[in-house]
Amino acid sequence: MRTGVFDSGIGGLSVLKSLINAKLFDEIIYYGDTARVPYGVKDKQTIIRFSLEALDFFKPHNIDILIVACNTVSAYALEEMQKHSKIPIVGVIEPGVLAVQNKLKDTDSEILILATRATINSGEYETRLRKIGFWNLKSLATGLFVPLVEEGLLEGAVLESVFDYYFSNFTNPPKGIILGCTHFPLIADALSAYFNNQSVLIHSGEAIVEYLETHLQLRTQYPLKSLQFFASDNTASLTKIAQKWL
Ligand code: DGL
Repeated sequence: MRTGVFDSGIGGLSVLKSLINAKLFDEIIYYGDTARVPYGVKDKQTIIRFSLEALDFFKPHNIDILIVACNTVSAYALEEMQKHSKIPIVGVIEPGVLAVQNKLKDTDSEILILATRATINSGEYETRLRKIGFWNLKSLATGLFVPLVEEGLLEGAVLESVFDYYFSNFTNPPKGIILGCTHFPLIADALSAYFNNQSVLIHSGEAIVEYLETHLQLRTQYPLKSLQFFASDNTASLTKIAQKWL
C-alpha cells in the first residue's frame, strides 16, 4: 500500500517515524512544503490554497491514502482537500483527540494544548475535546518552537529560555500536553523534562497509527520497500535531516 505524507516542512517526519515503525505501508512518499513553511502564521485561505497545491503534487504518484502530518493543515484544509480527492485523506487532529480520551480517561484532567497560532485560533482541539467532556483546557500558541526545530535546536539554553517564556505561569505540570504541531515531538524529551516528566504527552504520530489501525483497519505488517522524499525547496537538505532523525 502506497501512502503520501504531507507537512508544511520537516515536522511531519515525527509522524513518518511512527508510520514506519508501525509497518502499515510498504511505499511512502513524503512531501514537505519547505519553501513556504511555516503555515502556522498564515490565514485560512492561504493554508487551504497551499494544501490543495500539495494535493496536486501527489496526483502523479498514485498514492492509495494521504496522511496530513500537519495539525495546521488538518485544522483548516482537511475538508477542502477531501472534497478534491477520491482517495482517503486523514488528518491528525481527530486521532489526537481520541488519544487524549484513551490515555487520560478522566475528563477533569488539566490539558495543555500546544500548537501553532493558526491551529489554536481554529479552536479545533478545544471544540472536539469539549464535545467528549474535557473542560479543563488551556491553549497556548507556541509557534517559536517551529523555527527552533527547523534549525535543529532540540535541546539546550535557547530552547529552555523559550520554555520559560511560554510556561512561566505554570506552577504545576498539566496532566496532559497535546503536542498539537508535528514539529513538537522533536522537542518532546526536553519538554517532558521541563515539566519533571509528570505530564502525559499526546503525539500526533502515535495517535494516527492507533487511528489507522482501529478506524481504517490497517493492520498489515509490510516491510518498507520504498521511501521517497520531496520538498518544495532543497529536497537534499530535507532528505539529510530525515536520515538523521529516522
Ligand atoms: N507541522 C505543522 C503543524 O503540525 C506546523 C508548522 C508550521 O507552522 O508550518 O501544525
